[in-house]
Amino acid sequence: MKAILSLSSVLLALKLCSGEWCYQSQLSCNHTCEGPSQWKINYTSCGGQKQSPINIITSKVKYDPKLTSFIFHGHEDAFNMSVENHGHSAHFTLPPSAHLSGGGLKGKYKAVQFHLHWGENGSQGSEHSVDGERYPMELHIVYIGEEYINLTKALQNSTGVAVLAFFFEVTALQNQKFERIIEALKKVRHENTTSKVENFKLSDIIPQVNSQKYYRYSGSLTTPSCEEAVLWTVFQQTIGISKMQMESMDKLLLFGTDKPMAGIFRPVQNLNERVVYTSVPAHSLCVLPNLLTLILCLFCVLGQHKCFH
Ligand SMILES: *[C@@H]1O[C@H](CO)[C@@H](O)[C@H](O)[C@H]1NC(C)=O
Ligand SMILES: *[C@@H]1O[C@H](CO)[C@@H](O)[C@H](O)[C@H]1NC(C)=O
Ligand SMILES: *[C@@H]1O[C@H](CO)[C@@H](O)[C@H](O)[C@H]1NC(C)=O
Ligand SMILES: *[C@@H]1O[C@H](CO)[C@@H](O)[C@H](O)[C@H]1NC(C)=O
Ligand SMILES: *[C@@H]1O[C@H](CO)[C@@H](O)[C@H](O)[C@H]1NC(C)=O
Ligand SMILES: *[C@@H]1O[C@H](CO)[C@@H](O)[C@H](O)[C@H]1NC(C)=O
Ligand SMILES: *[C@@H]1O[C@H](CO)[C@@H](O)[C@H](O)[C@H]1NC(C)=O
Ligand SMILES: [Zn+2]
Repeated sequence: MKAILSLSSVLLALKLCSGEWCYQSQLSCNHTCEGPSQWKINYTSCGGQKQSPINIITSKVKYDPKLTSFIFHGHEDAFNMSVENHGHSAHFTLPPSAHLSGGGLKGKYKAVQFHLHWGENGSQGSEHSVDGERYPMELHIVYIGEEYINLTKALQNSTGVAVLAFFFEVTALQNQKFERIIEALKKVRHENTTSKVENFKLSDIIPQVNSQKYYRYSGSLTTPSCEEAVLWTVFQQTIGISKMQMESMDKLLLFGTDKPMAGIFRPVQNLNERVVYTSVPAHSLCVLPNLLTLILCLFCVLGQHKCFH
């Protein structure tokens, strides 16, 4: 018994001293792992000029008419997927029959996996931000160009990977369909454990309406090795989740170090020379569901009416 104990503590010590990458939330004063600012030491791409996530400044985004609606294939078909705790998050494996075209992408991209980024106890946990505002959680659905065998291969091309990002926002209602994700995560509490989710549809978690309004920029994976091979799509429409559901997220899983998996996001990176594009034309102000804008528009229309009389 003693031998087993000491062996496991040696293994634990080795693990803590191995200089593995970790999130800011995992750093202790003894610095036993490499936090986000040090990722570039072992993974040079993490220090590149086209890194993700970023803060999107809405007054600086450029309208691109080529950013048309997405065409989702197989997103309403039920499939069985596996989920695995990878030590820094849990990945839900997706079948390549779920694929994507349109959305200003060249050709088809097939689904690989999805995962989530969250904070601590329901506080800010998204990776991207909009005008400096962060959301409590962010969903990433990872796709690769249909010509690639796997993610490793796709990461070798600057447009090999497409990631769809959705923000979560706390609402009064519980998100019934998201309960299945929470239940699945409960079954993979420890690193390297896996479980199955049966008869799942991607349309169960992606909001149906408004796949038209989104931001697009070129960036990277947000975890080491940070390859700059990702076409990012950040949707304006958010996914609703109850406060209780949101606050449960950081209690579901454990890091490889057996600490609660909380604060799993990378800080925003510099935009540098890049431009963020939007699918929404600037002059569509009148269609915004905003009361003040509506009143202003009404005034415009009424005002014009008067002039013509
Ligand atoms: C990361 O780099 C440090 C110093 O450059 C090195 O000591 C450590 O072994 C490396 N860690 C990994 C996981 O490669
Ligand atoms: C940090 O290092 C100090 C001194 O070496 C040690 O006493 C303490 O237990 C360490 N803390 C952790 C969390 O490893
Ligand atoms: C999922 O697994 C269940 C039970 O193993 C099986 O009955 C069902 O046919 C599977 N569904 C699909 C789409 O493969
Ligand atoms: C989480 O936040 C809620 C308020 O939103 C608070 O009531 C609760 O005590 C917090 N829990 C922890 C573990 O900090
Ligand atoms: C991806 O495919 C290549 C070529 O077949 C293979 O060498 C590599 O191990 C694969 N990577 C993964 C993560 O499966
Ligand atoms: C990357 O993919 C695009 C689109 O499939 C292709 O045109 C280009 O040649 C590829 N680049 C490299 C370096 O393989
Ligand atoms: C999980 O698997 C990885 C890779 O095989 C290994 O390095 C790690 O120690 C494993 N973690 C646990 C908790 O067993
Ligand atoms: Zn991610």
